[in-house]
Formats: sequence, C-alpha cells, structure tokens
Amino acid sequence: MTREDGIDEVRARLSNARAVTVLTGAGISADSGVPTFRGADGLWRNFRVEELATPEAFARDSRLVWEWYNWRREIIAAKLPNPAHAALADMERRFDRFWLITQNVDGLHRQAGSTKLSEIHGDIWKVRCTACGRVEENREVPIPIPPACSACGKLVRPHIVWFGESLDPVEFGRSQEAAQSCDVMLIIGTSGVVYPAAMFAPFAQTAGAFVVEINRDPTPYTEIVALSLQGRASEIVPQQLLKLRLGERGRDAAQRGGARTELRVAAEDDGDAVIVGDSGDPAQDVLASTLAGMQRPGAPGALAKSERILVAPDGLVCDPRPALRLG
Ligand SMILES: NC(=O)c1ccc[n+]([C@@H]2O[C@H](COP(=O)([O-])OP(=O)(O)OC[C@H]3O[C@@H](n4cnc5c(N)ncnc54)[C@H](O)[C@@H]3O)[C@@H](O)[C@H]2O)c1
Ligand SMILES: [Zn+2]
Repeated sequence: MTREDGIDEVRARLSNARAVTVLTGAGISADSGVPTFRGADGLWRNFRVEELATPEAFARDSRLVWEWYNWRREIIAAKLPNPAHAALADMERRFDRFWLITQNVDGLHRQAGSTKLSEIHGDIWKVRCTACGRVEENREVPIPIPPACSACGKLVRPHIVWFGESLDPVEFGRSQEAAQSCDVMLIIGTSGVVYPAAMFAPFAQTAGAFVVEINRDPTPYTEIVALSLQGRASEIVPQQLLKLRLGERGRDAAQRGGARTELRVAAEDDGDAVIVGDSGDPAQDVLASTLAGMQRPGAPGALAKSERILVAPDGLVCDPRPALRLG
C-alpha cells in the first residue's frame, strides 16, 4: 500500500468514526523544533535523560535538575505549535467523542487550542511544592534557582512525571477509557518505549479499534498496528484531515489552479474560518478550519482576518511563513 492509499484509508476510517483517540509523543513537536529525547538530542552536558528526570536525581542535586529544566524551558519557550497540533485541535470538534493523550510536557497542544486532553506526563510550565504540594503555573525563563513555593517558601520541583513515578490516576483512567472505547486511534511521533503510555495502543487494538501509527521512523508499534504511515507528523496529520475536510469544490478549485493555488482565508468573528477559492467558488468549511487553533485571538502564528495562503492540489497548506510551513 502506498502512503497515499494509507492516508485515504485513514480518511475513510475517520469519516465513519464516532470516537477518536490520539496519543502523541515528542515527534509531533519535533517539527516545531522541540528536540526529542531518544538519539543525540537526548544528551545534555553528557547526562542522559534517565539520569536527570528522576526523583533520585532531584534529591541528590536539585540545582542540576533545575538547570536542565531551565535549558529545556528556554528551548520550548521560543517554539510554536505546527500544523499537526493545529489539526488535532480542530479534530476535537469533529467527533462525538475525542480524547488526546499526550506524553509531551511542552504545552504546544493547548497553545494550538486543544482542550480535550490529558497531559499524562505533566507540564513543564507548572511547578509543584515539595513540602505543601501546591501546583502553580510558572513561565519564568530561566527560573531562579532554587525556586520557592509562593505559599510556604519551600523548594518547588517541575510538575512532571519522572521516571519511576506514577501517572495521575484520574488522567490515567480517563486515557485508558478513551483508548478502550474509540473506533480509531492515531499514535503520532512516539517511540513507544515509555510505559505505561505505550500500553494505550494495545488497549485500543484489543478493544477493536483501528490503530494507525504516524512516525518518521519504524517503532515497536509498526509491526502490530493496523496501518503505519511513515513521514513527518506536520505533513501527514493535517493531510489526513484536510483530505477529509476538503470538499470536492475545494479540491477542484485547488486543482484548477495548478501546482499551487492561492486561496483566501476569511476568518470569522467566532474564530472559525472558511476558505474562499480565487475562482469565486466558495469551498466552504474546508481546510482553513484546520488552522482555527492558530486563529484564536492572541495565539502565536494567528492568521490575520482575510489572509492569503497557498494550497497545493492535494490540499496541503503551503503557508510561506516559517511557523506554518509544511514539508
Ligand atoms: N516536546 C516534549 O514535551 C518532549 C520532548 C522530549 C521528550 N519528552 C518526554 O520524553 C518521553 C519520550 O517518549 P516519546 O515517545 O514522546 O519521545 P521519543 O523521543 O522517545 O521518540 C520520539 C519519536 O518521534 C519520532 N519522530 C521524530 N520526529 C518526527 C516527526 N517530525 N514526525 C513524526 N515522528 C517523528 C521518532 O521516530 C521517535 O519514534 C515522553 O515521556 C515525553 O514526556 C517530551
Ligand atoms: Zn509550598
């Protein structure tokens, strides 16, 4: 099966699905420039992630661990959601039931507009008091070391689930339920080696869901899922949805325009958008809504009202701005 056939298959499955669950990992944020963990990116001053992201490491040397998190906060603070994040934010409005389980702690899904999600490994922009347990948002970059709790003045730690720690039982339960009750599950940009997150796909598959993997490289999932699409998340994820959403008229308009067609995005006041073809043919309710997550007022990379974007015949958005660039 070619990749195009695979994308068509996913599109067909999605159009018949009532419940969709998505699991994402570091790979979805890689296209925003956030480094993944496995491979050379996982090294920082010759430490491995497994030596830093643990309660033992924090007990031994909290300054070192905070320095590492400051380094990561600095990298992530400058990044924006990419079209894959935006497409998932859009997807949550299209199905009766939708749940996004992310292992990422970068906050880019929420920044793109996702609300139906479990951040099962925590949030790099929150801190938790080691004494009173208070959780608060903290976006300081760099955070002054040692950072103190605003309530009791004691040391705070990143509000992140470290190796050897358990997931929040409420978020875990919610995620497990979503995995076991969906028609389609998408597994995007995760190496599938961190447990218990790696169990959600087998849960879904055993319960009868159609499980699709989207990853740049083969993973342990590749052999067991119903369909594996190899490629970049920011390219494939919107494509699945865009092909799903791009009506015949929209596609015709794009095809008539040749290699690249300019379509006008007309943002509505409610933050949603329609695409208006240059032919004067309103290809309504199509791919611009995929970008709606980026159109929320104040969202980084927000489209201005009535802005021109480029659309390829296959429905891919080829926006000239780096933050939205595909492929
Ligand atoms: N952005 C983040 O918040 C972030 C970044 C690094 C690690 N983490 C944490 O590290 C743990 C690591 O597990 P993981 O599986 O999420 O990450 P991982 O680093 O183990 O694996 C990343 C996966 O993404 C794939 N990938 C890389 N670029 C891609 C792209 N452009 N499109 C599609 N796939 C791509 C790789 O082939 C790999 O399989 C998680 O617990 C997570 O919390 C989070
Ligand atoms: Zn406290």
